[in-house]
Amino acid sequence: MTSKTSSRRQFLVGAASAGVAFPTASRAGDPLITEVQDWAIGHGDGVDASPYGLPISHESHVVRRNVEWLTADTISSINFTPIHALEGTITPQGVGFERHHSGAIDLSKPDYRLMINGLVDQPLVFTYEDIERFPRENHVYFCECAANSGMEWNGAQLNGAQFTHGMIHNMEYTGVPLRLLLEEAGVQTAGKWVFVEGADASSNGRSIPLDKALGDCLVAFKANGEALRKEHGYPVRLVVPGWEGNLWIKWLRRIEVTKGPVETKEETSKYTDLLGSGIARKWTWEMDAKSVITAPSPQMPIRHGTGPLVITGLAWSGRGAIEGVDISLDGGVNWTPARLDGQARAKALTRFYLDHVWDGGQMLLQSRARDSTGYVQPKKDDLRRVRGLNSTYHNNAIQTWWVNAEGMVENVEVA
Ligand code: MTE
Ligand code: CO
Repeated sequence: MTSKTSSRRQFLVGAASAGVAFPTASRAGDPLITEVQDWAIGHGDGVDASPYGLPISHESHVVRRNVEWLTADTISSINFTPIHALEGTITPQGVGFERHHSGAIDLSKPDYRLMINGLVDQPLVFTYEDIERFPRENHVYFCECAANSGMEWNGAQLNGAQFTHGMIHNMEYTGVPLRLLLEEAGVQTAGKWVFVEGADASSNGRSIPLDKALGDCLVAFKANGEALRKEHGYPVRLVVPGWEGNLWIKWLRRIEVTKGPVETKEETSKYTDLLGSGIARKWTWEMDAKSVITAPSPQMPIRHGTGPLVITGLAWSGRGAIEGVDISLDGGVNWTPARLDGQARAKALTRFYLDHVWDGGQMLLQSRARDSTGYVQPKKDDLRRVRGLNSTYHNNAIQTWWVNAEGMVENVEVA
């Protein structure tokens, strides 16, 4: 709250005292003003031209993209959300990154079944229609793959926020609290964990402590108001707020209440972090506070020259809400509080802005998030000191973009 108020004041004072000249030229004689244009003569498309609306052709570059050397085959693969080109906080499903271990399956509602078994009083099988009859809720949450920014551990590598930070999306989910379905089956006192798996060949089985399962997990069937897309787990996926994306089981088919964790491949050889000591960190479910400047960034250079420049980005924490974001223009020497946009929601993306006046000088842009637990996003070297260099997952370090005098932007690291 404090940082929000003070950053706002700073913005207003800064803008007023600098006497910012916003671009308001009269553009006398501009034919786009003085001439009648083609699109104003005759008719546009009729209402039935696209029963399901798609982005206009001029925006066809705003798509998921992959990194060639990461995508040996597209079946067990990943692509990235174009976060550099989006605004606000909600990710449209059509550009939300995808991560499949054995491809996206086509599962219809009539063929859908969800089984709850194991240490329960009454094993149950739900159809899609059964799930729709339980009380439902709507919540906005981010889903971040544990491997997001993983390629950046050993040095600056990928040139674009889409590639360094795009294994994330943020949607409004409609679903039934998992707790209600578990209560229906009746969890026995010996049950301390749930094992969750999907209907795809990989099954992506993971163990989740019962407390979390009875907490804020959702059995979701809608995202951003419409049915889940096939690639996001149609017709039903698990939403595990604030926890690594790997636990968000798509095409959710079975929930087994167990005494202990199952220790599948996904929680032993994968999704653990090998420290410098040779010991692996395990059960690292929560996503630590993190942020990135989405513009300017390598895919979003400054094209308008000096003067007013909107610096913007996204911040999030799996432990709670974002309390503040600081921005540095000089590689972390000096910091200015950013303006947080709207209400910072727990376990969801928060948009931030710094309304800056660019003098055309070079900048080393950084953002640093702080969450409601007081945790502050670390510098890359500080994270490496604790975790070593063997890690892939859970890299939440501060990102640096180098902006040159031409406004071009590169991914760099500062010591
Ligand atoms: N669930 C199933 N059934 N199969 C999978 O391959 N991939 C997991 C998780 N759930 C996966 C899955 C991983 S690693 C991530 S990061 C998220 O789904 C990605 O969700 P998305 O594809 O909707 O972005
Ligand atoms: Co993942």
